[in-house]
Amino acid sequence: MTFAKCCLNTLETIVCNLQALAELDKERGYNPYHVISSRSKKYESAMEKCERKHVKKSMDVIKTRFYDLIGIRIVTLFLDDVHKIRDAILRQPGIVLVEELDYINNPKENGYRSLHLKVLLTLYSGETTIQVPAEIQIRTIFQDSLWSVEHVIKYKKDVDAELATHIGRQIAVLASEQYEFECQLVRLRDIGAISASDVAAMATAAK
Ligand code: GTP
Ligand code: MG
Repeated sequence: MTFAKCCLNTLETIVCNLQALAELDKERGYNPYHVISSRSKKYESAMEKCERKHVKKSMDVIKTRFYDLIGIRIVTLFLDDVHKIRDAILRQPGIVLVEELDYINNPKENGYRSLHLKVLLTLYSGETTIQVPAEIQIRTIFQDSLWSVEHVIKYKKDVDAELATHIGRQIAVLASEQYEFECQLVRLRDIGAISASDVAAMATAAK
């Protein structure tokens, strides 16, 4: 887990530096890196995943095959900032894109929208250089709220199956309407009708 912490520090440094540099970009008028959070998978949960995926329970497997041992999530205020942040991250040295799951342009069947990047991160450890898998998720503040709610409901054991299906359908409808709404927010920003702090206030109120 010390290993995971080192990897996470490396990834956090890259993303937090981008956030700090974005703060200096006065032309944009707001920082697109609204919130950054990160986590590393607990040892028990990594072992449970090995079991579930029918692979040998070993740190080597986890370190080389699981992209979610370490992960970072970036939350934006506006929809179009998601892909701008993606581009900025992938321009950084020491990050190589392995797989991109663009659930924003191609939502999952349940309506899930978020951008996932599976990357290889380069770690320089003195004599050697190693590459470790990591996952970067980028989504808007509205997507983040909706799918955090869905995640809680999905894992609640006492919600009966019929009700869960019903809620799932409602969430899918909300997600699609929310997407249209977020496209409008971008247009309103571009004509100067709303600011980033207006969107932050809306998202807080919606919660
Ligand atoms: P496991 O970690 O073994 O579950 O597999 P995976 O990491 O390959 O799963 P997947 O790529 O489907 O999802 C990766 C992460 O994206 C999850 O841990 C969630 O954070 C998020 N995610 C993906 N699909 C959904 C979804 O339908 N709802 C919510 N709330 N989150 C999702
Ligand atoms: Mg996962």
